[in-house]
Amino acid sequence: MKHVKRYHSQQLVAGGKRLLVEGPIEPERLASLRFDEGLKAFRVPEEQHKALVEIAALPEGRIIVAREEDLVLGYVTFLYPDPLERWSQAQLPDLLELGAIEVSQAVRGGGVAKTMLQVAFADDAMEDYIVITTEYYWHWDLKGTGLDVWQYRKVMEKVMGSVGMVWMATDDPEICSHPANCLMARIGRRVPPESIAAFDAMRFQNRYFY
Ligand SMILES: CC(C)(COP(=O)(O)OP(=O)(O)OC[C@H]1O[C@@H](n2cnc3c(N)ncnc32)[C@H](O)[C@@H]1OP(=O)(O)O)[C@@H](O)C(=O)NCCC(=O)NCCS
Repeated sequence: MKHVKRYHSQQLVAGGKRLLVEGPIEPERLASLRFDEGLKAFRVPEEQHKALVEIAALPEGRIIVAREEDLVLGYVTFLYPDPLERWSQAQLPDLLELGAIEVSQAVRGGGVAKTMLQVAFADDAMEDYIVITTEYYWHWDLKGTGLDVWQYRKVMEKVMGSVGMVWMATDDPEICSHPANCLMARIGRRVPPESIAAFDAMRFQNRYFY
């Protein structure tokens, strides 16, 4: 499958800062930007910056950033699912995982996450993919936001729902291990029925027949 990446951008003001939301961004360009100290939800900022540059260089990888001049204050990643996760079993060339979305404290609650997703899905190429996100409450910044798991789950539903990602049932044990965890997905308009069937088969693997 040829991974077409068409650049889009949008401006917004959040937390009093004028931001440019743009991408998919080239790895060299991303490497030349600075990464805000507040982007520490998943790794220390410099390590996360490096990891994002690597993802941007992958044939299927897509990174959208929100930046104030050369300072990155938010990002979202799309890439193939981790080979250790069930979502990679069928090796679907048209299934991408929204791996991480993060916005720095200073500009949270200002629509940055929703705008980054709008920019990501402004590329018509996204209609060729099933995009999934696995939401585990232990990845959420409960401490930093002061939200409880259900309030946070609501925020994630709003963020993901803003681009048509919807909750989908699965018997994946990690997702089922806590009721606030969930699988969300968006199936692009041009995804063929065979890919959807293969995705459905990956969602349910513990069916019993009587
Ligand atoms: C989750 C996260 C990405 C949201 O980013 P954000 O830029 O603040 O989100 P937005 O401003 O686009 O808000 C989306 C919606 O959630 C609401 N929201 C966001 N933060 C909220 C909060 N702390 N309390 C209540 N509502 C909140 C917004 O009001 C908005 O609602 P609306 O659609 O009704 O207008 C951000 O909090 C973050 O980086 N968290 C740490 C990393 C993380 O948990 N990532 C998710 C797992 S990969």
